[in-house]
Amino acid sequence: MEHHIKELISQLTLEEKAGLCSGADHWHTKAVERLGIPAVKFSDGPHGVRAEDPHADRPYTFIPTICFPAACATAASFDVEALEQMGRALGRECQAVEVDTLLGPAVNIKRSPVCGRNFEYFSEDPYLTGKLASAYIHGVQSQGVGTSVKHFAANNQEYRRMGCSSDMTERTLREIYLSAFEECVKTQQPKTIMCSYNKINGDYAAEHKHLLTEVLRDEWGYEGIVVTDWGAVADRVKGVAAGLDLEMPGTGGMNDRYIVEAVKNGTLSEKDLDKAVENMLRFVFSCADSRREEQLDLERDHALAVNIAAESAVLLENNGVLPLGAGQKIAYIGGFAEAPRFQGGGSSHLTPSQSVSALEMARAKGRGVSYTMGFLVDEDTWNDADAAAAVENARQADVAVIFAGLPEAFESEGYDRTHMRLPDCQNRLIAEIAAVQPNTVVVLHNGSPVECPWAGDVAAVLEMYLSGQGGGEACDRLLWGESNPCGKLPETFPLKLEDNPSYLNFGGDGRNVRYAEGSYVGYRYYDTKKMPVRWAFGHGLSYTSFSYSNLRFSADTFADGQTICVQADITNTGKIAGKEIVQLYVADQNGTVVRPAKELKGFTKVALAPNETKTVSFTLDPRSLSYYEEKINDWFAPTGNYEIIVSTSSDRKELSGKIRFETKRLLPLCVDDDTPLDVLDRDPRTHDAVQELIALIRRKIPMIPQTDDEDTAQEMGGDMEIPLKCFVIFEGYPREKMAALIE
Ligand code: GLC
Repeated sequence: MEHHIKELISQLTLEEKAGLCSGADHWHTKAVERLGIPAVKFSDGPHGVRAEDPHADRPYTFIPTICFPAACATAASFDVEALEQMGRALGRECQAVEVDTLLGPAVNIKRSPVCGRNFEYFSEDPYLTGKLASAYIHGVQSQGVGTSVKHFAANNQEYRRMGCSSDMTERTLREIYLSAFEECVKTQQPKTIMCSYNKINGDYAAEHKHLLTEVLRDEWGYEGIVVTDWGAVADRVKGVAAGLDLEMPGTGGMNDRYIVEAVKNGTLSEKDLDKAVENMLRFVFSCADSRREEQLDLERDHALAVNIAAESAVLLENNGVLPLGAGQKIAYIGGFAEAPRFQGGGSSHLTPSQSVSALEMARAKGRGVSYTMGFLVDEDTWNDADAAAAVENARQADVAVIFAGLPEAFESEGYDRTHMRLPDCQNRLIAEIAAVQPNTVVVLHNGSPVECPWAGDVAAVLEMYLSGQGGGEACDRLLWGESNPCGKLPETFPLKLEDNPSYLNFGGDGRNVRYAEGSYVGYRYYDTKKMPVRWAFGHGLSYTSFSYSNLRFSADTFADGQTICVQADITNTGKIAGKEIVQLYVADQNGTVVRPAKELKGFTKVALAPNETKTVSFTLDPRSLSYYEEKINDWFAPTGNYEIIVSTSSDRKELSGKIRFETKRLLPLCVDDDTPLDVLDRDPRTHDAVQELIALIRRKIPMIPQTDDEDTAQEMGGDMEIPLKCFVIFEGYPREKMAALIE
């Protein structure tokens, strides 16, 4: 519907314009009745619609809706179809409860395993995050409901999140902390982007012109609105000028008045205000025009939540003890069996429409399991009698299944964890049971990695993460083989927290936190350093097995503006149907300085019947090979060789091959006294000009072989790496002549 937005802007008073740029209350924007401008409603997500019941007699009473698996779990599905389906269901639910924009997905990168909100984020890898978040956005927005990609940007800890500055290089920011947002914006045009509380390199996100205007709009072409995280505004006037459209919640008119005053006294141009107003009008009309009648269908959506939870679980270890078989004497141990933790604390916490535990499911299906609580779910206390009963029950069984995990209080929005351990009572009981029962299975319910000192002593480990209200049913299907686990880890489980690359700097001093590890986040670090980890990014087992063969490329060389297709054949070599998540990693072989050993640049999930073979395909473009080059403020792939790895996990290499990329793009070349000779020899722009110097140096050091071969040139080592100034210092080369040469 055409709304003559320009005309409306001309009819709005200055006060009304300023008023449109902040909320009416905690969840709504302001309406302007006289001009037919509607108010629209936000509500939290990201993995469920947290809609306050307008008829309730007290605030924060939510309408029961579906609590889907949290992003920590859905990321492990590597399944864009599943995320899109979840998004569609969430969109329908939003329409049913009259929510116009859902506050998700949350795409912050898991820089450290102990960030309190990791449960709400997808991965340590921005490529996986961007693809899955985009699928979620597509699903939600396909139902006419808006999304809010959050928290823009570099909000990777909870400690002092309201004011701490995330300090890093532009390259680190672009490669790791912005690229998931970039993918979402360029492929989905999310209706809103939520800017974060923190600062980035000293400026608040809510008034960061480089991020909100130069990058988001000028470079990426973003057309939606930027809304603050709730209460994230520092200087509202600076925010308008920087590209911040909407402050939520409102400040009772206080900041509106600052905007009016600033326009009147000339410190804020009305043009900037009109841009925000135009964005807001487009946003609110787009929401209002997309509203439709919808009914909650909780049964249908619950079934979807169960299926997604089953797709997301990760079988980390299995010596064959799983799946469980009927007729076996099975002991369920641990409070999480009857009270699974399936969502995180803070703004995403909602009222599930139902939830069935694994224990209830097992009993409902007559599986004949025994149950001993052993330990409580919400505290770290040891009770001798409870523990002894659990150990005895486990000892007498054929298989003991221990339902363990992180208590609610161990991780949440608002604070970070201080260690990676499970409660001591759980580690102790797992060890005691494993000592008497070789068939011990551990099922984990955690929003972020935990140290597993007992991993080598148990027969199987199943990671459910925070799997939503359908997690208990999904867990039952997986344990008993009705579903075949197919998830893969979207984050590394390090052996200990101290191994994590952010460990020395995480948290910072409360005002600044240094991202000193740069792009070496997660597997980019462990893999490059060849460090042992408990379980690698991309790791996940199945009840069947797969083989990889026949890697082929559509070409062995490609250039700027072209793409290359990579294919491989995947075979199910086991006896039952299963799904394999095939990953593609790119490894720059060109000696590009400061670059991770490999990076994920493709993944696909393939369902295979026993003995079935399918071909999987990936398309790579120059961006797939690129790093972010600050000298040109752009992505850049150097000419040369790249290894393409197709694998079942980041720490394995099922198939690999080399392709060559050739670019005509040249980086700016700095030529001064410190420029080494070999750099000038290799660059077509300066090659001829330095041949006299090379001849001179060869006369001086005759053993330098006459070669233009790149590899040999590199073997020459130090002799060709001498900087130009040395010719003046050691070779008596006239300074004026050198200055002219440099010129
Ligand atoms: C919270 C969260 C954000 C949430 C918002 C509204 O502080 O940071 O993710 O959407 O406020 O509850």
